[in-house]
This record gives sequence, structure tokens and C-alpha cells, in this order.
Amino acid sequence: MLSQQELKQQAADAALAFVAEVAAPDAVIGVGTGSTADLFIDGLAAYKDRILGTVASSERSAARLAGHGIRVLDLNDVAWMPIYVDGADEIDDHLHMIKGGGGALTREKIVASVAERFICIADESKLVAELGAFPLPIEVIPMAREAVARALRLLGGQPRLREDFVTDNGNVILDVHGMRIAEPQGLEKVVNDLPGVVTCGLFALHGADVALLATQAGVRRLDK
Ligand code: A5P
Repeated sequence: MLSQQELKQQAADAALAFVAEVAAPDAVIGVGTGSTADLFIDGLAAYKDRILGTVASSERSAARLAGHGIRVLDLNDVAWMPIYVDGADEIDDHLHMIKGGGGALTREKIVASVAERFICIADESKLVAELGAFPLPIEVIPMAREAVARALRLLGGQPRLREDFVTDNGNVILDVHGMRIAEPQGLEKVVNDLPGVVTCGLFALHGADVALLATQAGVRRLDK
């Protein structure tokens, strides 16, 4: 029986096959945030001389990449990003996701939006029939915290301020419990439209293109 850590390692290793496929002197790899992304970063070190560099979705990942001697670029200087590799807190079989458990959702969404393909790496426990058991993280401009929280209650959720946490962008996170997410794309639009919301942790309008889900029987691949 493989542990959750071993499953995460398998998913991270599987993503390296995509790196091998796109590796080129001008290729930039988008790199996510979290414990599974950390394992991917460790494996990416072997490819650092075969790519131009990476863009990190958080200060945490940037530090880990730099620790391996992997070049970290400014997104504004990037011409070609064939893949973005990141974990998820939940993913459904449409490859819609909830992300942001680590609080890096906004930069994750930005970097992912530039990549040609989003490769999601996770252990099979992240696959769900309907999103929403994991509290939905929402990055909010601090002055709008209460206004956004009231609007979220009207949408049926119970927002809770993530204590002692400030995002890399200087904002706060509301984790919304009990939200019914029957239509992830519609809800993503509605929440993102609330004044003061930077972005919500639903990645449904632009979900993953490929999911590599590690199971006890091997890595299962899902395509959009
Ligand atoms: C970070 O903000 C998140 O979006 C992560 O991608 C997500 O929380 C998955 O993290 P783990 O790989 O640690 O489960």
C-alpha cells in the first residue's frame, strides 16, 4: 500500500515526462505551489539545462526552484510556456478544480493562463464527483473583506478569514465553507465579479488540460 506521499511522488514524476517532451532552449515551465508541486520542482532540477527557465506561482516555489539552481524568470519576459504543472485541492472529471489551499491561487491562475497546457498532478484522493467539500479560497483586497463576506453569505457560503495569513500580493484569504458548487464555471464568474475579489480558487473557466492522478494501481491520466 503506497502512502499519500508516495502517490504524490508518482504524480510529480509522471509530469516530468511532459517536461522531457517540451524541453527546448526557449521553453519556460510554469510551476505551481504546494506539497505535490514541491516534489515536481525537485525532479525538474534534472532538466534545468534543457530549458530556458521557469516562472513560479509563489515566493515559496521560487525559493525552492532557486535552491536547485533552476532559473526563475519574470512572467513579463516570457515568450513561450508550453506547460504549467501544479497540484489541486479538488478536481472533478471535467478537470475543473478548487485550488488555493496554500494561498497562491491568484499567481497560479495568472501563470496557468499563459501556458499552453495545464498539467494537474495529484493523488487520487483529490478526485471528487462535485467540487465544494474543500472550502473555496478567495483572495480579497483587505478593505473589502466584510463586504465580500456578506455577498458570499448571500450566495449560500460561510466565509471564514484565514487567520494570520497574507498572500504574496498583500491580500487576505476568505475560505468559504458549505458552498454548493453545482455549476463551477458560473460560480467562478459570479465570485470573480464581486468588487474587492482578486480571484477565487475555482479553476473552471480554464481548468486543467491533463490530470495525472496517482492511484494504488498506477498513474491514471484524464484529458479534457
Ligand atoms: C496552492 O495555493 C494550491 O493551489 C495547491 O496547488 C493545492 O493546495 C494543492 O496542494 P498539495 O499538493 O499540497 O495538496
